[in-house]
Amino acid sequence: MLKVFITRKIPQPGIDLLEKHFTVIVNPHDRPLTRKELLAGTADADGVLCLLTDTIDKEVFNAAVKSRGFANYAVGYDNLDVQEATSRKIPLSNTPGVLTDATAEMAWALLFAAARRVVESDRVMRSGAWHGWGPLQFIGGDVTGRTLGVVGAGRIGTAFALKSKGFSMRVLYTDSRRNDVLEKSIGAVKTDFETLVRESDFISIHCPLLTETTHLFHSKIFTLMKKTACLINTARGPIVKEADLVKALKNGEIAGAGIDVYENEPAADPGLHECRNLVMTPHTASATNSSRTGMAVLAARNLIAMMRGERPENCINPEIYT
Ligand code: GLV
Ligand code: GLV
Repeated sequence: MLKVFITRKIPQPGIDLLEKHFTVIVNPHDRPLTRKELLAGTADADGVLCLLTDTIDKEVFNAAVKSRGFANYAVGYDNLDVQEATSRKIPLSNTPGVLTDATAEMAWALLFAAARRVVESDRVMRSGAWHGWGPLQFIGGDVTGRTLGVVGAGRIGTAFALKSKGFSMRVLYTDSRRNDVLEKSIGAVKTDFETLVRESDFISIHCPLLTETTHLFHSKIFTLMKKTACLINTARGPIVKEADLVKALKNGEIAGAGIDVYENEPAADPGLHECRNLVMTPHTASATNSSRTGMAVLAARNLIAMMRGERPENCINPEIYT
């Protein structure tokens, strides 16, 4: 039987699906594999199901001589060297769609938590420091009727923006393409990045991590943002220059932030821990039962297709088939 290697335990339905066809080896540890373990584990695998915490590059492709493909358990795939895989005609896949609403919902959770200072208030309640209601306590920002800036109007950015309907917001977006769904259904307006940054009360990042989007948010951009604005990031950490975000939050250049992803995961700039007006979650935007199970099943289906020499439904580098 052909052998597939899964670099970390994923929800069981994905493993069950693969076990119907293959011998399945799963990382036995509840932690990401070390580089050495990853190279050893992929070495005799006929196919690999990998995670966003695995860097899949030339060295791995050299080690995984038999592998017929790599199915990434994530929609983002900046952890894969797509160019290298394509030059070797190795197929790669991701898991779009199944995590769209979960991720958009997390962006809203962070937006409200940052706007209304939910986590900061929770800390005060637990510490016993609340001594009664007061007219000037924990005043935050309004959401209804305000301007929402959506950076990247793909699947997740679109779902996030559409959910603003109940809050009657003015929606601005940036994207390389026009988004008819957003324009027709909520009157969203496509703007240049600087206009979005200057005019938004809330900015939510939904673009992929690319060379062009690395450190898209840095000190100069924070100075252009409204002092009352909040930044939300559920995309990829390096899109925001963390050290500059810390300064912007500490100096009151922006009012708050909600961050799910970090520049050098699992590390977070120690300065972030000191920012009162920051809400942090541990890269869990897709962490709902249906989303994570959907990702597992989709990644498994993609891998099964690759093992059969067929084009997977979510192929990242379809040009290898032409
Ligand atoms: C999670 O970060 C993903 O890209 O799926
Ligand atoms: C606040 O609790 C109010 O009743 O206005």
